[in-house]
Order: sequence, then C-alpha cells, then structure tokens
Amino acid sequence: MKTTFLKRHGLRLLVHLGALFPAVVMVWNLARGNYLDPIRQMTTATGNTALGLLGLTLACTPLARLAGFRAVLRVRRTLGLCTFAYAAWHLLIFVGWDYGFAWDLLIPALFDQRFVLVGLGAFVILLALALTSTRGWQQRLGRWWKRLQRWIYAAAGLVVLHVLWLSKTPDKALRYGILLVLLLALRWMPIPHTARRAADSPPTDGGFNIS
Ligand code: HEM
Repeated sequence: MKTTFLKRHGLRLLVHLGALFPAVVMVWNLARGNYLDPIRQMTTATGNTALGLLGLTLACTPLARLAGFRAVLRVRRTLGLCTFAYAAWHLLIFVGWDYGFAWDLLIPALFDQRFVLVGLGAFVILLALALTSTRGWQQRLGRWWKRLQRWIYAAAGLVVLHVLWLSKTPDKALRYGILLVLLLALRWMPIPHTARRAADSPPTDGGFNIS
C-alpha cells in the first residue's frame, strides 16, 4: 500500500517539496535578518530559482522522449507553474519592494533598461502559459494550445538575455544559453524505439506541454 502510494505520488511529492524548499530558505533568511542587502539578495534568489525550475521544465520532454522516463510528464505542469510563481515573486520584489509601486518611476525603469524589458517579455509569456495551462484552455484552444506552449523556449531565450545583460561577466548566461540550445537540439533528435511510447502518450497533467 505504502509502496504503491510512493510509486504513484513520490515524484510529485518530491517536486512539490523541492520547489517549496528555496522559498522556505528565503523566508527563513529574511526573518532571521541574514541578508545584508535583502532586496538584492531576494531578487537574485527568486530569479535563480525561477531559472532553475524553467530548466527542469524544459528537460521533461527530452527525458520522456529519449530516455522513456514518462513519469516526468506528470510533473511538468507543476514545474512550469512553480517557475511562474517564483518569476512573479521576483517581479513583485522589483515592483513593490524596490520601487514601492511608484509607477511614475517604474514605467521608465521597465522600459529604459534592456535587461528589465526582456525580463518583462519572459514574464508575460510565462503568465500566458500559466493561465492557459488548464484542461479547459487546452480544449478551447485546440491545436493552437500546443503552439502556444512552445513559446516557453522564447521565454527561456529572453531569460538568457536578461541574465547576460544584467551580469558583469557573460559566463552564467553562456552556460544557460548552451543548455537551452542543447535542450532544443534534443527535441529534434530521432526517438529511440523504446522511448517512442512515451513520446506518443498524451500529456498527463495539462499545461506546459512542450512535446
Ligand atoms: C519584469 C520582469 C523582471 C524584472 C523587472 C527583473 C528584474 C531583475 C533584477 C532587478 C535583477 C537583479 C539585478 C542585480 O543583481 O542587481 C534580476 C536578476 C535576475 N533575474 Fe530577473 N527580472 C524579471 C524577470 C525575470 C524572469 C522571468 C526570470 C527567470 C525566469 C528572471 C531571472 C533572473 C535571474 C536568474 C537573476 C539573477 C542573475 C544573477 O545571478 O546575477 N528574471 N532580475
């Protein structure tokens, strides 16, 4: 009984706990006053968590297609929604905490700095994907839904530019850029016979379906 539960829900549980963990660490550090520059450190921490989760979301399809690891398809939507949640938190810190919702300062800040503008572009895409990730939207949009979900690659590309333009050195953006190109290349790789069933199976939990 226990084994069946763990087999069925173990990965989902792991993903939920894993995605929650950085939030707990951040809140803990904030509450304990461990941050010397809380706005900057929280911005960086939420941004890096969103970036990591985005990478994991993108890795699900190649894992299912090429390694036949179908279970990941069941957590892909959760990973995508967690990416969006951290990105929203990241943006909220910028808009609310850093700028105190002072729109007269915020509007120029959003449009003057190119790294902020591409970040905003990525966020808008993630928002659209999160809103349409339900089964209802999947049915309403039909074949357009899958096309829309592929915009996740555009969001990832914009995030790479965001990191490139805000960092002093290009190393980190380069690493993520290479990873993104690799993940994209894996999409077009021929599927091994054993993994074909995984690739052909319908999405198991709705949105962020990038097969
Ligand atoms: C309107 C949307 C966004 C705004 C205004 C924004 C703003 C910022 C700011 C101000 C920083 C800190 C720069 C510094 O170190 O001083 C930052 C860092 C970062 N952002 Fe964003 N961001 C946005 C969207 C995103 C999205 C959608 C992601 C990822 C999914 C993201 C990922 C990151 C990462 C990874 C860093 C840290 C890079 C490092 O380690 O130096 N951002 N962002």
